Amino acid sequence: MGNSLVGKSILTLEELTKSQIIELVALAIDMKKNPKKYQESLSGKILAMIFEKASTRTRMSFEAGIVQLGGHAIVMNAADSQIGRGEPIKDTANVMSGYVDGIMIRTFEDSKVKELAAEASIPVINGLTDDHHPCQVLADLMTIYEHHGKFEGIKLAYIGDGNNMAHSLMIGGAIVGMDVSVASPVGFQPKAEYVTIAQQLAQKSGAKIESLIDPKIAVKQADFVYTDVWTSMGWEEENNKRLAAFGEAYQVNDQLVSAAQENFKFLHCLPAHRGEEVTGAIIDGSHSVVYQEAENRLHAQKALMFQVMQ
Ligand code: CP
Ligand code: NVA
Repeated sequence: MGNSLVGKSILTLEELTKSQIIELVALAIDMKKNPKKYQESLSGKILAMIFEKASTRTRMSFEAGIVQLGGHAIVMNAADSQIGRGEPIKDTANVMSGYVDGIMIRTFEDSKVKELAAEASIPVINGLTDDHHPCQVLADLMTIYEHHGKFEGIKLAYIGDGNNMAHSLMIGGAIVGMDVSVASPVGFQPKAEYVTIAQQLAQKSGAKIESLIDPKIAVKQADFVYTDVWTSMGWEEENNKRLAAFGEAYQVNDQLVSAAQENFKFLHCLPAHRGEEVTGAIIDGSHSVVYQEAENRLHAQKALMFQVMQ
C-alpha cells in the first residue's frame, strides 16, 4: 500500500483524498479481522492525548489502539497541565515534538488545533473540535462500507444540530461520493463555509450535499439516518433554548424514519440522549448499528495512526 500520509496532520478530513480514505477504511477492516498482524506496527511509538473536553470513546479507543499497535499513550487533561494555565500552543507544540511521535487533541476552537499542527514537527490528529470530528466520520465511513461495500449511490440523512458532526459528515461524504442531506432548524444549520467546501468537493466525486430545514425531506429514501445531541459540549447554557427549537420535529423516531429505506441503518456518534434527538425504540431497535459504529472508532483510528505515525 503506497503510504502518502506519513507525518501528516488530520484536522478536518479535507487533508485526505477519496483514495486515501478508501485505503484507510480497507486497512481498518483488515485490522479488525487480523489484529495480531499489526501488533508491532507502531512498536515503541508514543501518542500524546490532550483533552480539554470530556470523552469516553475517543480516550479509550485511541489508548487501546496505540497499545494494540505496540506503542504507548500519554494522556494529559488540559486542566492539570500548563496548557490549562495559559502556556502558549507554540511552546507546547515544540516541546511535545521532542518527546512523542504524535498528538491527538480534543479542544474547543479549531484555530488551536491548526496552530498546534503548524508548530509541531509530528502529526496532530483532531479528536473533536467545535467545528469538526474527523475521526468519528472515518469510523462512520468504515461502518457504512461494512454494510454496503461502496459509497456511491448511498444516502445519509443527518437530522439535528448543524454541529461538528454535521460538518465532518458533509465533508467526508463529499470526498468519497456519498450523498449527505442535513436537516436542522433555522438558527442551528451547519456553517455556510463548510457547506460550500463540501459542495465544492462534491463536484469532483459526484455526491449531492444539501443543508435543508425539513427533516422529512432529508430522510427520504435514506440508507443511513444519523443524529447527534442537540447540545454539544461547550453549549450547555443554551440547553433549554435548544430543546425548544428542535422539539419533536427533529427527533429521530418511528414516524420520521418511515420515509427512509426500509432496511435503513441508524447511526449516532454517542453519547445519546434517549427521548431527545432519538427515541429508545430507534437507538435500541433493529435498525441501530451504534455499537458497531463505536467499536469501529478503534479500528479506524488504528489505521489512521498506522498511516501517519510510521
Ligand atoms: N463519539 C465520541 O467522540 O465520543 P466521546 O465523546 O465519548 O469520545
Ligand atoms: N457534537 C457532540 C459530539 C460528541 C462526541 C459534541 O461536540 O459534544
